[in-house]
Amino acid sequence: MKAKVTVIGAGNVGATAAQRLAEKELGDVVLVDILEGVPQGKALDLQEAAPIEGHDARVVGGNDYEASAGSDIVIITAGIPRRPGMSRDDLLTTNARIIRDVTQKAVQRSPGAILIVVSNPLDAMCHVALKTSGFPRHRVIGMAGVLDAARFRAFAALELDCSVESVSALVLGGHGDTMVPLPRYCTVAGIPITELLPEVRVRAIVERTRNGGAEIVNLLKTGSAFYAPASAAVEMAEAILKDKKKILPCSAYLEGEYGIRGLFVGVPVKLGAAGIERVIEIPLLPEEREALHRSAAAVGDLVAALGRLSF
Ligand code: NAI
Ligand code: 2OP
Repeated sequence: MKAKVTVIGAGNVGATAAQRLAEKELGDVVLVDILEGVPQGKALDLQEAAPIEGHDARVVGGNDYEASAGSDIVIITAGIPRRPGMSRDDLLTTNARIIRDVTQKAVQRSPGAILIVVSNPLDAMCHVALKTSGFPRHRVIGMAGVLDAARFRAFAALELDCSVESVSALVLGGHGDTMVPLPRYCTVAGIPITELLPEVRVRAIVERTRNGGAEIVNLLKTGSAFYAPASAAVEMAEAILKDKKKILPCSAYLEGEYGIRGLFVGVPVKLGAAGIERVIEIPLLPEEREALHRSAAAVGDLVAALGRLSF
């Protein structure tokens, strides 16, 4: 039987993810958005591309959750970007309300699904999805580390003029200014990048990775990155649907791992049919561990603000 993946939010990330899911034939795709006609129109457009692309995925769109029933995976991309005059807290509460609403509606119809959260602020929105769904932690996963590591890999490959396929990288922590790219764990065909590039170049790649989201916002001016974010969410969905047991950096709810409890933070996990099948703890230098804890504290501040604002 074909898998079913629902994508909530038919905006830039959601529609691009739907396209990739269909073209990779990972399952049938349901697009949901509050904008009348938009999920329907984009789904139909994607369906009409199927004969040319040569896939047999069914793509449907709607403003309610009827068609999403029994989804294996629900990817949550719904939300609003920060607008002029809006505080960080305004964005936090607005998106938290949206995530709570869409999570409630989605899990009602797909109680066995695995949730992949994309909406920002990412780690705090994962928290809302976990608490709203009542799902076990292995079925609520945040997309950030795959994207941040892909940016690191892309920049390293450009710098070294080598294939991106030869580069692997690891970025831990929350998806924000405090993220923790780990050059020590960035390798090119097994060779640490620190052996191949001078420290100053490695530091520049780390900084560019940290500012990767902002760099694209500054260029686009009217939105944020969506091609790479959609690819990242789909890589996670594929690992789950194909039970690949892929090791990827994802935002996971920690219960003592890395000395962190009760927060979503980016760490390496094993992704398979059950969702997060294992949180992988790697040895960190004292300064790396400190940076991870600083990043977790920043996530903790947002979660605390949510509680205070009783969104
Ligand atoms: P977008 O503005 O293009 O799309 C968002 C869509 O959500 C819109 O179509 C809107 O109508 C829809 N929406 C709003 N409220 C809804 C509701 N209650 N139910 C269903 N749909 C609803 O934004 P884009 O670029 O697709 O980004 C989506 C989210 O993903 C944003 O929060 C963005 O910050 C975040 N993001 C996170 C990344 C990460 O690394 N975790 C990377 C890129 C984006
Ligand atoms: C990014 O990193 C906006 O979180 C988004 O591109």
